Amino acid sequence: MSNELLEFDVIAEALIEKAQKDGAETMWDRKAALKTQCGFGEGGICCRICVMGPCRVSPSPDKGAQRGICGADRDTIVARNFARMCCGGTSAHSDHARDIVHAMYHSSEDGPFKIREEGKLRRIAAEWGLEDTDTKETYALAHELAEKALMEFGKPFGTQNFLKRAPKTRQEIWERENIAPRAIDQEVVTLMHSTHMGCASDPESILRRSLRTSMSDGWGGSMIGTEFSDIMYGIPKERASESNLGVIDPEQVNIMLHGHDPNLAEMIAVASKNPELIELAKEQGAKGINVVGMCCTGNEMTMRHGIKIAGNFYQQEMAIITGAVEVAVVDVQCIFPALPKLAKSYHTRFISTSPKAKIAGDMYIEFNEEDPLSCAEEVIKTAVMNFKNRDASKVDVPELKAETIVGYSVETTIGALDRVVNSQTDVTGTVKPLGDLVWAGVLRGAAGIVGCNNPKVEHDYAHITLMKELIKNDVICVVTGCAAQAAAKAGLLKLEAKELCGRGLKEACERANIPPVLHMGSCVDISRILHLVTLVANERGVDIAELPVVGAAPEYMSEKAVAIASYVVSSGLNTYLGVMPYVSGSENFMKLMTEGVKEWTGAAYVFESDPIKAAELIMADIEDKRTKLGI
Ligand code: SF4
Ligand code: FE2
Repeated sequence: MSNELLEFDVIAEALIEKAQKDGAETMWDRKAALKTQCGFGEGGICCRICVMGPCRVSPSPDKGAQRGICGADRDTIVARNFARMCCGGTSAHSDHARDIVHAMYHSSEDGPFKIREEGKLRRIAAEWGLEDTDTKETYALAHELAEKALMEFGKPFGTQNFLKRAPKTRQEIWERENIAPRAIDQEVVTLMHSTHMGCASDPESILRRSLRTSMSDGWGGSMIGTEFSDIMYGIPKERASESNLGVIDPEQVNIMLHGHDPNLAEMIAVASKNPELIELAKEQGAKGINVVGMCCTGNEMTMRHGIKIAGNFYQQEMAIITGAVEVAVVDVQCIFPALPKLAKSYHTRFISTSPKAKIAGDMYIEFNEEDPLSCAEEVIKTAVMNFKNRDASKVDVPELKAETIVGYSVETTIGALDRVVNSQTDVTGTVKPLGDLVWAGVLRGAAGIVGCNNPKVEHDYAHITLMKELIKNDVICVVTGCAAQAAAKAGLLKLEAKELCGRGLKEACERANIPPVLHMGSCVDISRILHLVTLVANERGVDIAELPVVGAAPEYMSEKAVAIASYVVSSGLNTYLGVMPYVSGSENFMKLMTEGVKEWTGAAYVFESDPIKAAELIMADIEDKRTKLGI
């Protein structure tokens, strides 16, 4: 294990010990209290879809109960449980997107929600077939586009608008396999229906429908979430930031922004610059107001504002344990319900803001799209006035933080690629240089490494080990979510990380002046990865499945990640999962996932918990793709 990793663990261990001294409970206490986790649940063979159950069937065909009371066998039970995880994940990403679109619907010249990227608004409006996109008044067009986007959730006919971005061959595969997603809400509802007691029992059909539902996340909700956030809040640009718990400043009022939806976070960013509130903070004895990000909100805010990242999923409790966070404010997704109780062991106020994620135990200040700034200002005032309640004896902020470069949206990445070519003689503003580098073998390929942390895996170890192995072998990595924050903490998002690369990738990094691991944003921004890969496939005239590119989620934990893996596989990329989803109880379903699906989409799920072995498999996969392309 490397020194950097060891350093992470020293911090974690010290803070876990501090929590014990402070009488605060952490996830490790709860994990220990659970003792052994349920083997039936782990294998996906516990069914509680109807109230005749719960029915736990045997993972073995030779002994124990073979079927639930209704007759569902292990294959059906596993398939239905898996499908419902895809529904949960798709719902989360897509409902996030719906909130962004709603905010755009409320945008106005003089209101808090504005259109910052008029060019992108007009481009997407034209892509979606709206009329007079060059001449229509900005906000009239924004409202029209928002209405059209809301229809993507419930339109009675047709498939998702963004599918047309994909290569023709891929679109044909989706049609042929009946996995082209229709309206997002419809896909989730239909799959919940299909997996209701007494409906589908055929595992193959259930997996196919799980793919289609997940596709409505990747090419629907997530892509809408990303593109519309850019229109409203700005296309992320290359910028410097810092990452790890050391960004919490003991001399300032610290506000930890945690969750996923940029609507709230953007308003907090605006309100935190209010001179009256800064003055108030100074009157309380603080040097100023320091907003720090956690999880995907952290990614969104660092990419657009340079707001520093306090940590990833695993560190949400640790930030509070530093004793220097005045307010932890959250919106939706990946928030431990344990946080309000933990906050009570310190002076921290915990504030939930979303009616969809009202978290019991401390404050609730509702975020209202019609008056979003008042919620943000109240949050900041609460934090400022809480500064004096800090217990100095409980403050211990680890000094560790890493410099990092973030903000590689598709547009910014293309801009960076322009540095590789001769602008006098070559075409600029395209992904051609990236294709050229891959085709020439300077880069062997690319990997999208994404996902969460999971206490089943040593913190950040799998993320970082996999990235280091791949860049060493000239595979460029694009990262999002907590994987991106792991990379940031380990210094992989710095230009100096080129020294860890093979010769080809190092040269490419020097020519483009980029790090070998590119921060592409939050979990919905995996759609940026899909878009970039699609542009390269289109530019080369090949299908996505032919490219030497893979997806990986080494430490994931959420339903969202299960949906992500499923839409990435549907998009034609083999997807390497470091944690086993709840499917091991059905050999047949596992076979469908690792082999059968390949016949439909040209890609499959690969399960490998050892990141070194995963890297070997990925390299073999990439070299195989290269051979087939003849490059
Ligand atoms: Fe048991 Fe069938 Fe009901 Fe599931 S649906 S709980 S297997 S009876
Ligand atoms: Fe996320």
